[in-house]
Amino acid sequence: MTTNTQQYTENKEGYFGEYGGAFVPPVLEGKLKDLYKSFKETAFTEEFEKEYIHLLKTYVGRPSPLYYAKRLSEYTGSKIYLKREDLNHTGAHKINNTIGQILLAKRMGATQILAETGAGQHGVATATAAALFGIKCKVFMGAEDVKRQALNVNRMELLGAEVVSIEQGQGTLKDAVDAALGYYIEHPDAYYLLGSAVGPHPYPTMVSYFQSVIGKEARKQFLEVEGKLPDSIFACIGGGSNAIGLFKEFLPDTEVKIYAAEGAGEGLNTKRTAATLNLGKRMVFQGADSLCIVDENGEPAGSYSIAAGLDYPGIGPEHAYLKEIKRVEYHGITDDEAIEAFKLLSEKEGIIPAVESAHAVALAVKLLKDKNETAIINLSGRGDKDVERL
Ligand SMILES: Cc1ncc(COP(=O)(O)O)c(C=O)c1O
Repeated sequence: MTTNTQQYTENKEGYFGEYGGAFVPPVLEGKLKDLYKSFKETAFTEEFEKEYIHLLKTYVGRPSPLYYAKRLSEYTGSKIYLKREDLNHTGAHKINNTIGQILLAKRMGATQILAETGAGQHGVATATAAALFGIKCKVFMGAEDVKRQALNVNRMELLGAEVVSIEQGQGTLKDAVDAALGYYIEHPDAYYLLGSAVGPHPYPTMVSYFQSVIGKEARKQFLEVEGKLPDSIFACIGGGSNAIGLFKEFLPDTEVKIYAAEGAGEGLNTKRTAATLNLGKRMVFQGADSLCIVDENGEPAGSYSIAAGLDYPGIGPEHAYLKEIKRVEYHGITDDEAIEAFKLLSEKEGIIPAVESAHAVALAVKLLKDKNETAIINLSGRGDKDVERL
């Protein structure tokens, strides 16, 4: 499982260029150091990898297929493959990370798991992993997201988790992360199972590692069918975990163009947007030095996207760095463009994507129109949770 690209962007522990670090109250400093030590000492051992890979195979259903989307390709005028993370157990990429982290939590003797969630997919994946190991689980979710992703709230509760609805702020992912971090500060004995490549070190490093299985598989699968690397790869980006999971293994392949689709909401020139890499300013936000969308006073602003999983004003530090070195291009996709792609993929391929993933589809169709190139789109999740709303 270890990879030669693991350290590709992390030039000093917890830092990607100037971005990253761990800006947390003293009560958590020791906790996070212990967590990183445990990750470094256990995640790469034969015993850990054996259990992790076994669960990915027999419980999650990996490797996920790389599917040639023939009718979408004909429509677009480029050869498009979909990396089917939507076929994973629980319906999204999030479970790759929760299985990895629950194995760490178990080894660290955790008796309570905490998580935040936006679209509810990370909450469901955490509740699932906690049920699998019989550990108590509490999930923080913004009140607005509780409403717009009700199916996932029901799933979490059925899995035995307690869902805490957060009324503060806009009731979205930012508020859920604030609440989870606040609870963690008061209960440092719990294990905080963060769901994206954001937050203080070591989370961006750990989450990126556990998600890198996506790109490792996809690169190998593509080489097997096409005998060469793709011209480009695409993913949607909220905090950045499915994107970095696909991108990581391809970063040294400089001939492969890499694109990410942010939730532009109502447009990049409006305030109703979540396109942090296009509009954010550098600052310390939720434990890391990265980019964040700010208001007139330079304070973290609320964000907006139709996709709860992309509706977040911050971004993982590794992506801030990849933007700075121009290895990845970050584009905004509006709600309307995402809804159109949601319908397009459903009708052309019989695959209903998560509205988050539809952003990646929209960007690929836009950039690949009549290009006659080859590409992979990471289909980060399935759309059952969005069907009633869109
Ligand atoms: C299906 C799906 N895709 C993408 C995301 C965005 O998260 P990330 O950027 O960490 O992959 C989410 C978040 O909830 C999601 O549920």
